[in-house]
Amino acid sequence: MKGTFYGVGVGPGDPELLTLKAVHAIQRADVLIAPKTEKKEESTALAIARPHIREGTAILDLVFPMVYSAHTLSSAWEANRDIICELLAQGKQVVFLTLGDPMLYSTYIYVYNLLKDRGFSIETIPGITSFCAIGSRLGYPLAEGNDVLSIIPATADDAVLDKALAGSDSVVLLKVNRNFDQLLAKLDRSGLLTTAVMVTKCGHADEEIVTDIRAAGGQKVNYLSAIVARRPKA
Ligand SMILES: C[S@@+](CC[C@H](N)C(=O)[O-])C[C@H]1O[C@@H](n2cnc3c(N)ncnc32)[C@H](O)[C@@H]1O
Repeated sequence: MKGTFYGVGVGPGDPELLTLKAVHAIQRADVLIAPKTEKKEESTALAIARPHIREGTAILDLVFPMVYSAHTLSSAWEANRDIICELLAQGKQVVFLTLGDPMLYSTYIYVYNLLKDRGFSIETIPGITSFCAIGSRLGYPLAEGNDVLSIIPATADDAVLDKALAGSDSVVLLKVNRNFDQLLAKLDRSGLLTTAVMVTKCGHADEEIVTDIRAAGGQKVNYLSAIVARRPKA
């Protein structure tokens, strides 16, 4: 019998913020895939899942080089897909770990698309997103009543960012580490800077909360940082 491929969301960082379903899948896995974008770095998703991993579970470090669209998948990705297909054909239960939720800006989405028509059974197990954890951590409601909440990758084009910021009551900004200073200026222009809070590595031992995000201007910002902001109520 063929194995099943599980895409498991491990949440933002606290090993207690995994669902029961995620923990059960990790404990039953024959092989855990710990995706990384570069060879040298540690897989953060693996570190979060670590307390739940059964001794003796095979762990496969696979490097998925950063991609910017489904059309630029490199041969490394195809080689990884073939490795996963081989394990599934051998009847192995394969768990692919992913930060936060698997269906939100995740490497898993590309892997899922590469595997979905290959005749294997696939189960995606949702995870707690970084921004849901941040809202709870800060006591910061993300949206109330009829508020329009936008989830925005700060890597989006300028015009798209400006439009989303102007048209929202409340925003979550992900991938904020690049062009951070320009982002501060945009938040200021759109009237969202005074309420903005940035959290770096939410739920990790070295979590940081920055309430005056202007003070972070000109400094290096960690990739695992997100900003929440909302339009002050009249
Ligand atoms: C490629 S997206 C992945 C999102 C993830 N799938 C989720 O559900 O949160 C990566 C971005 O998520 C945010 N992020 C992920 N984990 C975080 C954490 N623990 N604390 C703060 N931001 C985090 C950062 O903005 C980071 O640049």
